[in-house]
Amino acid sequence: MRVLVTGGAGFIGSHTVVSLIEAGHEPVIVDNLVNAKRSVVARIGRITGHEPELVEADVRDLDAMEKVLQSGYDACIHFAALKAVGESVEKPLLYYDNNVGGTFALLEALSGAEVKTFVFSSSATVYGDPDPATLPLLESSPIGAATNPYGWSKIMMEQILRDVQVSDPEWSISLLRYFNPVGAHQSGLLGEDPSGIPNNLMPYVAKVASGELSKVKVFGNDYPTPDGTGVRDFVHVADLADGHVAALEKRAGEQGVFTYNLGTGEGHSVLEVIAAYERQSGKPIPYEIVGRRAGDVASNWASVEKARLELDWQTTRDLDDMCADSWRWQQNSH
Ligand code: UD1
Repeated sequence: MRVLVTGGAGFIGSHTVVSLIEAGHEPVIVDNLVNAKRSVVARIGRITGHEPELVEADVRDLDAMEKVLQSGYDACIHFAALKAVGESVEKPLLYYDNNVGGTFALLEALSGAEVKTFVFSSSATVYGDPDPATLPLLESSPIGAATNPYGWSKIMMEQILRDVQVSDPEWSISLLRYFNPVGAHQSGLLGEDPSGIPNNLMPYVAKVASGELSKVKVFGNDYPTPDGTGVRDFVHVADLADGHVAALEKRAGEQGVFTYNLGTGEGHSVLEVIAAYERQSGKPIPYEIVGRRAGDVASNWASVEKARLELDWQTTRDLDDMCADSWRWQQNSH
């Protein structure tokens, strides 16, 4: 399939482009490079032997999207979005404009070009703060109230996509709800490169292991979890990438909205992540317990049965693999 990949130079997008090429598809990247580097394309070429085309454009630019789509596509995977939770609280209009507004323009251009197979980058954040008694989260679990504009933008975009499919049943829409994507490509050539001090746990731990930051601040050890620290379903970005190819191959052209959790189905605590990273890096990772971070939930992890049964997809990489690959990337990129 010839696949338009918006945000294909970003963290999850670039790994998905690798998986698409390796599965014999032809991805074309559209990216405005606001949070990604052009050099990613050459790195994808080194990994796969095929350098994908990159069109530097913004998905909000309807004219540009219509022009790109003139060359003919079978499907679109839509990653392009802003994702910093704290920044979304400070700049809600920027987030709604980019994420929701970008999706509007893209859908309009796709509809005009009769490209109606669409895979959407959603998030477990749509479940809000789940009652721990209801874990694991099922795709049918209620969508909660987000605690920030980034989360609301994902909830809104899911709803918009459901409405679009009702209005025109020809659409085939897969909503992929990611849990906590971490790790990096095994080659050490692709990974996440947050600017400034990372907000997310594993990129922060990576910088402590490398000595760039002095210690991890563990946000709370009084949660109702086995060791008191937050529990999350960390999923290797390369497994996540394969999940997109599976959704595309199983659902392309099939009318409807299909929702899948992409996670491992297993929760790991903050202290377990620190211990695994110490094992894989061979570096001491000092930490300090501090107060809870506003907006954090105690635990969340996925039920991944639906993706396993319907997409024939399951993860193959465990927490130690995630830490080992993150560490290789950390050492290569600095
Ligand atoms: C966060 C976002 C979520 C987004 C996801 C992307 C929030 C509230 N949620 O999820 O919307 O989809 O990233 O991966 O920001 N922790 C520490 N010390 C740190 C950093 C994190 O103890 O320096 C803890 C947190 O309290 C949490 C766990 O590590 O228990 C995971 O945190 P993080 O990696 O930021 O992910 P989420 O908050 O789950």
